[in-house]
Amino acid sequence: MNLQMLGRVLAFYGRFLFSFTEPGFRFRRFFWRTATRDFRGQVWLVSGASGGLGAYIAGEAVKAGATVIAAARDAGKLAALRESLAPELRPRLEPWVCDFALQSKVTTLLQQLHSGGRRIDVLVNNVGVLCDAHELTAEGRERSFAINLLSHFQLTEGLLANGLLGEGAAVINMSSGGGYNFPLLPELLNVTEASRYNGTAAYACHKRAQMVLNAHWRGVYGNQNIAFYVMHPGWVDTEGVQRSLPRFRRALKSILRDAASGADTALWLAAERPTQADVAGVWFDRALRPAHVFAYTREGDRAVQSLIDRLRGELNDGQSKTPAAPTSQ
Ligand SMILES: NC(=O)c1ccc[n+]([C@@H]2O[C@H](COP(=O)([O-])OP(=O)(O)OC[C@H]3O[C@@H](n4cnc5c(N)ncnc54)[C@H](OP(=O)(O)O)[C@@H]3O)[C@@H](O)[C@H]2O)c1
Repeated sequence: MNLQMLGRVLAFYGRFLFSFTEPGFRFRRFFWRTATRDFRGQVWLVSGASGGLGAYIAGEAVKAGATVIAAARDAGKLAALRESLAPELRPRLEPWVCDFALQSKVTTLLQQLHSGGRRIDVLVNNVGVLCDAHELTAEGRERSFAINLLSHFQLTEGLLANGLLGEGAAVINMSSGGGYNFPLLPELLNVTEASRYNGTAAYACHKRAQMVLNAHWRGVYGNQNIAFYVMHPGWVDTEGVQRSLPRFRRALKSILRDAASGADTALWLAAERPTQADVAGVWFDRALRPAHVFAYTREGDRAVQSLIDRLRGELNDGQSKTPAAPTSQ
């Protein structure tokens, strides 16, 4: 890491240290009114629901009355999540095994939802990984790109195309404060050569791209009464952080957020459905924050359209290798 990069990293962490950790959450919570959550009758789909924030969100949504399709790759962890709920709640947590690294598996999930006539009221695009080591999936894509960005795009667009996200639905995209540190650079998306790969930069770029995608969806579907939100949870002590950022975790362990604090905004957005004047904003601790805190992350209109084209292109390229996506009636 050169000096300029080091300076940038220190400035980034220093700037957000209080805000993104548990003290920042506790301070803001002091000013909030207690809100009740009532999700009775709703069907939720949460990706990456077997652990961390996804598991917490899924469990809380079930407790507040929702039926939750909890999608993740590990059947054992999903079964354990279900068992952790009170017996009378378990039937409303539906474990769905899906590896979001593989677009063919997301296609299968979409087909199953479609053929089962499922309508989703709240979609939480939560699954996300920071992979230090470069890895290609069996479908030939860089693994974190496929999980963090392409699967979210595919799932959301697939549900929309088939009318499975109806009037009044909400889509909550789990981004990261890491997105504040990187612009949308096309060369950081789906880096298939190991020599060009930097896991932290790729992750940050995926998270920036999620913010851009959310603004795009708000613009396109805003008049269809579907709410699109992008949020970040702050810094939360999850297995993902323990695995991917061990030094960061060791240094900040005593002040990292717990899952309840990190997931609070997702559950609040689903319950309150706040209006949003600025299409590009990012929700954090129940308030809309700017999409950019550093000028160097701003992208032009062209970059937005080329991101959409790129993601569509990725899915079309893969169609010969994957089962046909369901289509609207
Ligand atoms: N924790 C934080 O401080 C923080 C900060 C900013 C943003 N976020 C974002 O919040 C989201 C959740 O993060 P987290 O910290 O809760 O992560 P986590 O502890 O790693 O949990 C992620 C969940 O996703 C599952 N998963 C991973 N790869 C998958 C795949 N290919 N297919 C299906 N499921 C998969 C994991 O299952 P396995 O156990 O089987 O891998 C796990 O259940 C991510 O998008 C992350 O970027 C987190």
